[in-house]
Amino acid sequence: MSKPKIYITRKLPEKYLKPYEYDFEFKMWQEANIPVPRETLLQAVSEADGILSMLSEKIDEQLIEQANRLKIVSNLAVGYDNVDLLAMQKNNIVVTNTPDVLTETTADLTFALLLATARRLIEASEFIKKDKWEHWSPFLLAGADVNHQTIGIVGMGRIGQAVARRAKGFNMNILYHNRSRDQQAEKEVGATYTSFNELIGTADFIVSLVPLTQETKHLFDEKVFSKMKSSAIFINVSRGQVVDETALYEALKNNVIQAAGLDVFQHEPIRSDHPLMQLSNVVCLPHIGSASVQTREKMIELCLQNLHSYFYGSGPLTEVRF
Ligand code: DGY
Repeated sequence: MSKPKIYITRKLPEKYLKPYEYDFEFKMWQEANIPVPRETLLQAVSEADGILSMLSEKIDEQLIEQANRLKIVSNLAVGYDNVDLLAMQKNNIVVTNTPDVLTETTADLTFALLLATARRLIEASEFIKKDKWEHWSPFLLAGADVNHQTIGIVGMGRIGQAVARRAKGFNMNILYHNRSRDQQAEKEVGATYTSFNELIGTADFIVSLVPLTQETKHLFDEKVFSKMKSSAIFINVSRGQVVDETALYEALKNNVIQAAGLDVFQHEPIRSDHPLMQLSNVVCLPHIGSASVQTREKMIELCLQNLHSYFYGSGPLTEVRF
């Protein structure tokens, strides 16, 4: 049998591919920081048996039409909203993602963002760098406490639970809302299940960890922000489209809520002239939830293992179930 052909949609260091070169013929887009142009991708997939894709690529019906040989999409992310699952199912194409390996790293970033937003760390750092520090004073850059406050986690999956474990260390009261109750998680981290409305009305920190689906699109809209406490801090590390950004902007600007920490945006990359970027009570990050070197290495390795196990083993390790 000839080697399966794998198209990789971003330049990855050769050292990760080396152990697999005997079994696969790799082709790779040659830019590390720039996504493959759509036309190039559509051409490249016509010869591919498998794709190792980034979340920046739309893997949809149009792409499948060009990809007659395609059998598997190995997506370098735990989220897979960039992949049209129905189209994949119709065409018998397997989809895999990278759960577990990024859980703790993403929870670290979530907590870092929560702390940075509550304690105004970015503003404080800029304050010194712009030479604004003249005197110490009691309320200079005073933020909000995190310890002993109430955190409300919307989406209590693996990452949600890892965030809850961190919150426990800060003596926080932990509320969560999820499609289904998870009594095991409740016991382990001492979290309390609440309705969505109760959570958003009670929590000091509201953390969005829901996957993007038809149901969660614009879940956080004007009505929802209006029900939050005026001292509430909103953190989004899931997907930008779960938030109505215009509503969030208005809520932040008009002190309906206190602040927001955002790792994800409706349109990425967001630009510096976006209204949200003009607000001092927004801490923003360029979608780096799982971006530690160690975790990105594990994610790449898992993508490759999924491909290998699909073509040569007993099936992919972390298949997305339709
Ligand atoms: C994911 O894995 O879905 C993350 O958003 C990527 O960091």
